[in-house]
Amino acid sequence: MATKNFQAVDEQRGSMALMSETDIIARILDHIDNKTTDMGHSGWKEPAANYQSIERLDAELALLRRRWIVFCPSAALSQSGDYIARDTADVPLVVVRGNDGEVRAFRNACRHRGVQVASGQGCTSVFVCPYHGWSYGNDGALRNVPHKDGFPGLEKQNRGLVAVECLEKNGLIFVKQDPNSKDQADPTDLPDLIPKEYRVIKSETLEIAANWKLHLESSLEGYHIRSTHQTTFFPVQYDNLTVNETFGQNSRIAFPYQAIEGLRDKPKSTWSTNGRLTFDYHLFPNVVVSTFPDCMQIVVLEPLGLALTRQHMFLLTDCAEDGAALNAVLEGQEFAKVGAIEDREVVLSAQRGLKSKANDYLEFGLYESAIEQFHGALTEELKGITT
Ligand code: FES
Ligand SMILES: [Fe+2]
Repeated sequence: MATKNFQAVDEQRGSMALMSETDIIARILDHIDNKTTDMGHSGWKEPAANYQSIERLDAELALLRRRWIVFCPSAALSQSGDYIARDTADVPLVVVRGNDGEVRAFRNACRHRGVQVASGQGCTSVFVCPYHGWSYGNDGALRNVPHKDGFPGLEKQNRGLVAVECLEKNGLIFVKQDPNSKDQADPTDLPDLIPKEYRVIKSETLEIAANWKLHLESSLEGYHIRSTHQTTFFPVQYDNLTVNETFGQNSRIAFPYQAIEGLRDKPKSTWSTNGRLTFDYHLFPNVVVSTFPDCMQIVVLEPLGLALTRQHMFLLTDCAEDGAALNAVLEGQEFAKVGAIEDREVVLSAQRGLKSKANDYLEFGLYESAIEQFHGALTEELKGITT
């Protein structure tokens, strides 16, 4: 198995620069020796009302429509005709790789009476509306209207699916729904996180009865490892030991495994993070890319309501179709799944905690600095958004 080299991490891109693998490992070993961890400067108090206000949720959804956001990894639509249809920031979209290899996004609404022409995911060269059978090519063009003489004057060339801005970059597919918004910084200018040879081996959708931000926050700190993951992650990781970096509005949190100490006696030139730590890349606002030994997971959080989130997960690897390496990846995922269930338990509980009205605000301390970064960026972005 080739060592994964998250090359862009080594690139110096101004504020987008991340530490090299070697520097990260050295910093972690230093933290282990000194019983320290990365810390923020001030902490953050997030009003409980921001998890419970419908106006706030509407503004967050407007933000998700206004900016470029990650829809899925390129590898999820690897073949011509591959598509994924789902609600995105409360709007039904379908994203599809055309016969020409280009990825396009459309509002998933028939130009007759608005019914969704695609559902779930699959591969097709034609979308047929289930209501009256209008059909569209995977380039969005209206192809066929049954009994077309019932629509005198209909110009098929003007009634294709309505396009949404879409681009494919560094192994990710992005969409931007609001054509009039102009992002100051380019949120698609991200490090090259996804190795080219990675393919999707599993995709899964899950609904969680909690606010999307409560769910997200559970990925962004290592302060809970000992308490929440007593018998899963804690025995193989560390209590409250992370390296936290920011790049643009995004964060990267490194969660070391105890196996990292095996590198102490090895020459630095051979140091690799693969199998020694998990990186969580928080791609602001609603995506987390996590690295695991020989695989990675991409999670897109879709807010469905104040206390309902749909999680879309894609698991990617370059391991051969069958064999020991793939089995090891799948076993590792079973282990990670138990940890994810533990996270969901506390997240659901935090959601109930909101109802108790015990807290006017949720307090994030110095060990939860990536959450401070998230809420800081979100507060800034929401200024001036009216819904
Ligand atoms: S709504 Fe699609 S064909 Fe009528
Ligand atoms: Fe956790």
